[in-house]
Amino acid sequence: MPKNFKIAGLGSYLPEKILTNADLEKMVDTNDKWITERTGIKERRIAKEGQPSSDLAVEAAKIALKNASLDPKEIDLILVATITSDMLCPSTACVVQDKLGATNAAALDISAACSGFVYGLVVCHSLICQGQYKKVLLIAAETLSKITDWKDRSTCVLLGDGAGAAVLIPSNSDKEGLLASTLGAMGSAGNLICLPGGGSLNPATHKTVDERLHYLKMQGNELFKLAVKSLVEAAKTVMQKAKVKPEDINLFIPHQANMRIINASATRLGVPMEKVFINIDKYGNTSAATIPIALDEAFRAGRIKKGDLILLDAFGGGLTWGACLLRW
Ligand code: UT7
Repeated sequence: MPKNFKIAGLGSYLPEKILTNADLEKMVDTNDKWITERTGIKERRIAKEGQPSSDLAVEAAKIALKNASLDPKEIDLILVATITSDMLCPSTACVVQDKLGATNAAALDISAACSGFVYGLVVCHSLICQGQYKKVLLIAAETLSKITDWKDRSTCVLLGDGAGAAVLIPSNSDKEGLLASTLGAMGSAGNLICLPGGGSLNPATHKTVDERLHYLKMQGNELFKLAVKSLVEAAKTVMQKAKVKPEDINLFIPHQANMRIINASATRLGVPMEKVFINIDKYGNTSAATIPIALDEAFRAGRIKKGDLILLDAFGGGLTWGACLLRW
C-alpha cells in the first residue's frame, strides 16, 4: 500500500471579468473604504453569463493535468468541491468528467462549502492510501456570483468566482504528503450561511424567487467569531498531531474569507504574516476554491519548496472546518 499521496500538479482559473469596489459603489450603498477596512477585498472575478462552475473547474483541471504530465483518460477519480454545482443533478464532477474526456474516472461532488477542498484532500488521502485510486483529480470550483444577492451589501461585496485543482498520486515516501489532518462540523449553526430555496425543503416556486430565497444568506458577525475560533483550533490540532510548532510552518494558507479573520488567526497561532499567503484583495471569498487557488499561486511564485511544511486551514458553511498539514 502507498505510504501517502503527493501533489503531482496544480492549476487554477479565474474568470477575466473584474468587479472592483468602485463598481460595487454604483450597485449598492457601500464604499471602497468600508470594504477595504472591514474585509481586505479590493476586487473579485465574475464568471460570464452561461459560464457555470464546471467550465471554471475544467480550465483549472487542464492546467493541473498538464503540470502532472497526465492525460485525462489516466484519471481514475474526480472529486469536485462546490456549493454552486451546475445543476442539482447530475453532479458537477460528472459534467467535468465529460468535458475533460476523463472516461475512466469515477466522479462525485463534495458539499462542505468553504472547507470543501480540505475535506476533499482528506477523502483522497484515504482512498489513495487504501490503494483504491491512483490518479485523482481534486477540484474546487465556485461561481458564487450566480447565487449572490446583488441587492444585499452585507454579502455581495465579499464573494467571487474561481477554481483550483490538484492531481494527487500515491507516494511511497514517508517524508512527503499529508502529515496530519482534522475535520469538523457544527450542523446546529447551519443557518448562519445558507441558501434556503431550490432544494427539497423549499422547492423553487415563484414565491421562493420573489422572497429571494435562491440567494446565499450570511450572518457575518456571528460567523466571524466562530471562524477565528475554528481556524485556530483546527490548526493547533494538526500541529499537535504532527508534533510541529508554529515556527516550523513554512507557509500558512488560510481560507480567504476576511483579512481580519486571517490576521486574527495568524496572530493567535503565532505564525508571522510574512508566512501567510494572502490573495483575498484580488479575488474575495471564492468558498472552496480559495485554498487551491492560493496553493497554486504560492507554488508558482516560488513560495513552496521541496520539504516545506504547509498548513491549510478552512472554515465555512455547514458549519464545517478542517485543517491539513502537508510536507511538500
Ligand atoms: O466563507 C466563510 C464564511 N464567511 C465568513 O466567515 C464571513 C465572516 N464575517 C465577516 O467577514 C464580517 O462579519 C463582514 C465583512 C461580513 C461584516 O463586517 P462586520 O465588521 O462584522 O460588520 P457588521 O456586520 O457588524 O456591520 C457594521 C456596519 C453596519 O452598520 P450599522 O448597523 O453599524 O450602522 C452594517 O450595516 O457596517 C454596515 N455594512 C456596510 N457598510 C458599507 C454592512 N455591509 C456594508 C457594506 N458597506 N458593504
